[in-house]
Amino acid sequence: MDKLIEQYERKFAEVIGVKRAFAFWKGRVALYAILKAMDIGAGDEVIVPGYTCVMDVNPIKYLGAKPVYVDIEPATFNINVNLLREKITSKTKAIIAQHTYGYPCDMDAIMDIASDNNIPVIEDCCLALGSRYKGKMAGTFGKAAYFSFQWNKPYTTGLGGMAITSDNNLAEKIESLCAGEMCKPLRKEVFMLWMQLVVYRLFVYPRTTALAQSLFRYLTKKGAALGSSITSEFRPEQACDFFKDASCVQARCGLRQLKKIEKNIAHRREMTQLYDELLAESGWPARQYDASIMQPVMVRYPVRIAEKNKALAEAANAGIELGSWFECPLHPIETPMEAYDYEVGMCGEAEKASNEVVNLPLHLRVNKKTAERTVDFITKYIPLFYARLGETQIDNHRIAGNIYKASKKSV
Ligand SMILES: Cc1ncc(COP(=O)(O)O)c(C=O)c1O
Repeated sequence: MDKLIEQYERKFAEVIGVKRAFAFWKGRVALYAILKAMDIGAGDEVIVPGYTCVMDVNPIKYLGAKPVYVDIEPATFNINVNLLREKITSKTKAIIAQHTYGYPCDMDAIMDIASDNNIPVIEDCCLALGSRYKGKMAGTFGKAAYFSFQWNKPYTTGLGGMAITSDNNLAEKIESLCAGEMCKPLRKEVFMLWMQLVVYRLFVYPRTTALAQSLFRYLTKKGAALGSSITSEFRPEQACDFFKDASCVQARCGLRQLKKIEKNIAHRREMTQLYDELLAESGWPARQYDASIMQPVMVRYPVRIAEKNKALAEAANAGIELGSWFECPLHPIETPMEAYDYEVGMCGEAEKASNEVVNLPLHLRVNKKTAERTVDFITKYIPLFYARLGETQIDNHRIAGNIYKASKKSV
């Protein structure tokens, strides 16, 4: 194996505090390797939250297993642990605990339920690099965990994924799978990824994100850019050349990102706090999570609003970076849900969140000014509270916010 990739894996394992790390072309490939190393296959069931990226479900389908969806709880968007136990059957072979937007799951409850039923937990840390639950790092609770380094993630290597574990047997199995079955990315793919990273570094800033995204999607459709998903991946029966190794371009970039990981985390915390303050000044409700238990490092700042689609369209025109994931329980909106065993109505809270949540950027290119512009923009919309308030209360809230803002301006 390439020395650079080995070095990246060692450094990553050290940062998270686990024994082993395995780098892959994408995050979904990391999950695939974990599931396969756990011998999960036809007839097995894997529990996932019904509010995720469809690419997370693809590896389950590729292996012939069935995804079983559990609804989320509305404040943290994480799997609702009160609904978890009833979904477990004799076929359940793994529980995926996805730490959504950076909020760690209720790991005590999940680990209890899993150990009562002797089922391994796999943590999806794609959105939660550095988050902690009761002081312990996300990714160190379950038997294994995985990360993604695609464009929207806590740090990016363009595309990229990492599987981690401290379980020696599982690590050996992943290692032998990699040695036996994994293919190398094509030179052309690696070159395109490198080019895209250069373009990203030079041109993609909060003001240009919407434009860059549209252009990127267009170029991806034409085959002139390397999108994070290829069309064939939406058809679960085609595994193609899915099981793919990481490249040196990703390893080099990942090592650079790990050098500034503390700065990245501190910045995300600072910007999250700034959004908290700015939104509170506008009369918006505070986020609801137990800070004495959870120490999230947010990948994006989710807010619920009325008129999500209108806000997204206006944001693109105004040069405001607004994220729309997850657009449906199995993001993106084009997902043929039936093919993934999801029936509308299965996860009511997840469906509601998909219609209401937009997310605000927290990455290293966001500064105080960007955050202020973003909040000025988003506070034009009506916030939807976790505990839904009546229209009059929302109006009162907005009026209070506007009075507060006006009084600050007049000081
Ligand atoms: C929560 C979550 N898990 C897994 C993935 C898959 O990661 P990747 O795109 O690197 O395969 C994503 C993708 O965006 C995601 O949002």
